Amino acid sequence: MKNIVILISGSGSNMAAIAQTAHKEAWREKFGVRIAAVISNRADAQGLPLAKSLGLATELLPHRDFASREAFDAALMARIDLHAPQLVVLAGFMRILTPGFVQHYAGRLINIHPSLLPAFTGLDTYQRAIDMGCKVAGATVHQVTAELDHGAILAQAVVPVLPGDTAGALAARILTQEHLLYPQAVRSFFERSA
Ligand code: GAR
Repeated sequence: MKNIVILISGSGSNMAAIAQTAHKEAWREKFGVRIAAVISNRADAQGLPLAKSLGLATELLPHRDFASREAFDAALMARIDLHAPQLVVLAGFMRILTPGFVQHYAGRLINIHPSLLPAFTGLDTYQRAIDMGCKVAGATVHQVTAELDHGAILAQAVVPVLPGDTAGALAARILTQEHLLYPQAVRSFFERSA
């Protein structure tokens, strides 16, 4: 069995989209792929009860329990590696990762970011796109490298920025596309590596 580990910090809607697509498309039967665990660094992540309701195994590893970023990342790596994952999926995991962590999972660590990278790395991507007068915005699935929101682009979805858009309206429009894009990108990863 090929294991996926998904890391979340918040609502977990991308995690749920991947899990639901995996179920609907029978990834386990077709590709021998399963979601082995969903790990959150926040106890209050809405994605934890959501993952449980989808029948997924959940784990909590609060970053606040650790004295340094390096100590947290080392503990997280140890947890993840118990599942010997083929792929580690960052799905709204709002932590900057240490170079050691990124190196350890080189080639099997992916992220979704709510902008058309390389534009608008970092936070507040929606308002920054609106303020710049962008006519389109979107989401990017990319390989994770030591530099934040860099790394080879695997898939992108484009949405229009509409007149009078608020950051919230644009975020919702992008998120709807993320829920289609991310499961497709995960499936493609396994199709490529089959
Ligand atoms: C998503 O919009 C994702 O693109 C973004 O956080 C949201 C998580 O939603 N990620 C980042 O900003 C990473 N830099 P979810 O928890 O409902 O999947």
